[in-house]
Order: sequence, then C-alpha cells, then structure tokens
Amino acid sequence: MKLLIPGGAGYIGSHMVRYAQEHGHEVVVLDDFSTGHDWAVRDCEILNVNLLDHYKLSQLLKGRQFDGVIHFAAKSLVGESVKKPAMYYRNNVIGTLNLVNEMLNNDINTLVFSSTAAIFGHPVTDKIAEDHPKNPINPYGQSKLMVENMLQDICLANDFNATCLRYFNAAGAHESGEIGEAHDPETHLIPNILKAALSNESNLKVFGVDYSTPDGTCVRDYVHVSDLAQAHLLGFEYMQKYRGFSAFNLGNGDGFSVFDVIKAAEKVVGKSIKYEISPKRDGDPSVLVADSLRAVSMLGWVPSFKNLASIIKSASNWHKNFEDAKV
Ligand SMILES: NC(=O)c1ccc[n+]([C@@H]2O[C@H](COP(=O)([O-])OP(=O)(O)OC[C@H]3O[C@@H](n4cnc5c(N)ncnc54)[C@H](O)[C@@H]3O)[C@@H](O)[C@H]2O)c1
Repeated sequence: MKLLIPGGAGYIGSHMVRYAQEHGHEVVVLDDFSTGHDWAVRDCEILNVNLLDHYKLSQLLKGRQFDGVIHFAAKSLVGESVKKPAMYYRNNVIGTLNLVNEMLNNDINTLVFSSTAAIFGHPVTDKIAEDHPKNPINPYGQSKLMVENMLQDICLANDFNATCLRYFNAAGAHESGEIGEAHDPETHLIPNILKAALSNESNLKVFGVDYSTPDGTCVRDYVHVSDLAQAHLLGFEYMQKYRGFSAFNLGNGDGFSVFDVIKAAEKVVGKSIKYEISPKRDGDPSVLVADSLRAVSMLGWVPSFKNLASIIKSASNWHKNFEDAKV
C-alpha cells in the first residue's frame, strides 16, 4: 500500500512509519514538526505542512493517490488543552476536517484515526469496552470525540471508511533503539521514570497516593507502540470487508499502578529510582484499563508486548541511546 501518515514524525507516528516500511509499504509523512522530530523518519517523502494551512495542504495533495491515510497529527497534552481549549479544537478538529476534505477531493476514502481512552472520561466499568459511555472530561478528549462523531457522519454520507483506534497509554520504543518517546514537556510516566533513573535526580513526581486503588496510586493500561502500529495495518484489512465507520479500544487489558511501574523499571535498570509525592492532578481517573477483546476478535490483533517489563526494557534501550547521543 501507499500510505499518507500525518503526524508521522511524532512518537507513535514514527513507529507506525517504521512498522509500515518493515512490512513493505510505501510511506509519505505529513507533519508540521510542531512536536515531531526530523530524526524520527527516514527513507520516505516528507510533506512539511500544518493541517490548518488549508491552501498549502490542498496544493500538496492535489491529484495524489494513496491507498489510505493514518492520521496521528494532533495536540495531546491534557493540561494544555484545559488552558487553551480553542487551540485544541482548532488543531485537532479543524485540522482533521481539512485533511478529510482533501481526501474527499482526491478520492482517497480510507482513514485510520488516532483516538484515545480520554473520550470515555471517568470509567463506570472495571474495563472499558467500545460501548462504554463517552463523557470526556477535558477539551483534548472532547476534541477527539468530536472527530469520531464527525467521521461517523462523513462515512454515512459518502463512500468513506474510517477506523478509530482508541489507545490507552502508549509506551515503549522500536526494537532498534533508534526511535522512541521524546516529548517536550514529557508528561508520560515511563519516559519520566527512565529519565529520572538516568539522571539520578529526584525530579520524578508521583501525582496522588490516595486513590481508591490497592497502593493508592493511579492504575493505567500500557500498550507498546509497535503493537499499536500492527493494529493500524489490520484496520485497513478490516475496512476492505466492513465498510463505513468502526472503532476499537487498544490496550493490554492489565492495569499497573504508578508504584508497579516504578518497581518494574527499577528491575529493568538495576537500581532504585527516586521520586517525590505530589498532589493529585485534576481530572485523573483512578483506574483506566481497556477491554480490547473486540480488536483481538475482529481485527485479529495479537499484541506481542504483553508484559510490562518488556515494554519498559524497549523504552529503556531507547532512552539510554538518546541520552548518550546528547553527550
Ligand atoms: N501517546 C499516547 O499515549 C496517546 C494515547 C492516546 C492517543 N494518542 C494520540 O496518538 C496521536 C500521536 O500521539 P503522540 O504521542 O505520537 O504525539 P506526538 O506529539 O509525538 O505526535 C503528533 C505529531 O503530529 C504533528 N502535528 C500536530 N499537529 C499538527 C498539524 N496541525 N499539522 C501537521 N502536523 C501536526 C506533530 O508535529 C507530531 O509530529 C495523537 O493523535 C494523540 O492524540 C496518543
């Protein structure tokens, strides 16, 4: 397949690019490099454009043919979205609408969209399946739900197919150790734990130890980026059989507390990791764990990183290489 990958220079997108290339697909990356990195992509054409630049986008995509689009391009910091909601709705909703318009203009009718567990808000069941109520509690989650709803309507009215993949906590890095998670600021737990381990400073914060969980810290479901990438390609096979709109939750189905993750990371790096306790952050649900049975049964998704240690180990290799490269 020839795939257009908006957001392909970002964390998950760059792993998707590698995975697609390793599976014999041709890739064109579209990115404005607002949070992406040029070192994260290689051996492909790069369209440097912001999805909000409708004119340039339309010029760049005019007459181009792709078998499908995998759309990662978004802003995704929950806290920032609370402070700057208009920016989030503009970038994530209008940016996606511009992209879909150009797809329709150029008869490209198959899209896999990066959605998120944040569309569900506070869980009302132990594990979150696709039919869980959708009540996002921040503008980031709201912007993603708005896109899902928009795609559903566009699929109904056109010969258009969209698969929304709702990731829980993406983690880990490519087995080569060449690409990995490098957000700035970094808000995700595993990279922050590994950075603390490498720097020996106690700048790791544990937000809240009085949640109603066994050890008082938040419980999350960590899923490896390469397993996410696998699900995206399966999404295209699925859409050949089942046309129109569909959505799948992607997680490992196991919850790990912040302290579980710190302990697992200590085993991987072979030393103790310092942290400090901070107050809870607003709007952090105590437990978020996916029910991904639908992805397993309908997409044929077989995640290979089922165990937390293997996810952390891959991330640790990357962080070590990344820190060494800075020296
Ligand atoms: N990281 C996670 O745990 C997680 C969980 C659930 C969902 N997601 C979703 O997955 C996607 C990728 O997340 P990530 O962690 O790789 O983020 P990221 O910030 O590393 O990647 C996003 C990429 O999109 C690009 N981009 C953003 N806005 C753009 C625009 N208007 N025009 C062109 N390019 C633009 C950025 O430069 C970057 O390369 C996002 O849509 C995010 O909402 C991520």
